[in-house]
Amino acid sequence: MTQGRFITFEGGEGTGKSTQVARLVERLRARDLEVVQTREPGGSQGAEEIRNLALNGDAGRWSPMTETLLMFAARSDHLERTVRPALEAGRWVVCDRFADSSRAYQGVGGGTPADFIEALDAAVVGVTQPDLTLVFDLPVEVGLERAFGRGLFETRFESKGLAFHERLRRGFLEIARTHDRCVVIDADGDMDTVTERVWAAVQGRLL
Ligand code: TYD
Repeated sequence: MTQGRFITFEGGEGTGKSTQVARLVERLRARDLEVVQTREPGGSQGAEEIRNLALNGDAGRWSPMTETLLMFAARSDHLERTVRPALEAGRWVVCDRFADSSRAYQGVGGGTPADFIEALDAAVVGVTQPDLTLVFDLPVEVGLERAFGRGLFETRFESKGLAFHERLRRGFLEIARTHDRCVVIDADGDMDTVTERVWAAVQGRLL
């Protein structure tokens, strides 16, 4: 049995990422591939419980360090219970957010030292790095307006203010620049156009 492929979607708020995850999964399944659609934080029972802890409450509930540990605790369970078993069974895994969100949100945005995050990544993610990461990029005002418009200003992260989100955007672009597995997707366009951009990246890299 061949090893499956691992694709992650990353980016700031309101980029339309979640819709595009579902569309990609549909297209891959139409090619008769077995695909597991999942998300972080979450994607396994234990990780979903940690998600509730991590994302609810007011913005200052957790220190950046504690928040980082919660994200990697959830990630550890998700990898053990969902991601690795699927990949080993030859399935494709498409995940809405993964470790680059910790690099951007807790690291660049929250100020957790990068070397601490990289040490956790080495210990928890290890060799299970994504084969392809799609980094959705959008001007911050457009993303936040979309998130507001959808009534989604509800998680602790979406209420953190413009400067935080600008740092986040630059952080994601820097991650993309320094990791070969990343492709930046221009998310400033209609949904069908963005879907084609995603598909071009997946075909170019993996099919
Ligand atoms: P969600 O509502 O799923 O956001 P989105 O639709 O934008 O993906 O909430 C996930 C939130 O968790 C999001 O604001 C980013 C944050 N997050 C981190 O801060 N660190 C992480 O490692 C992960 C995976 C997510």
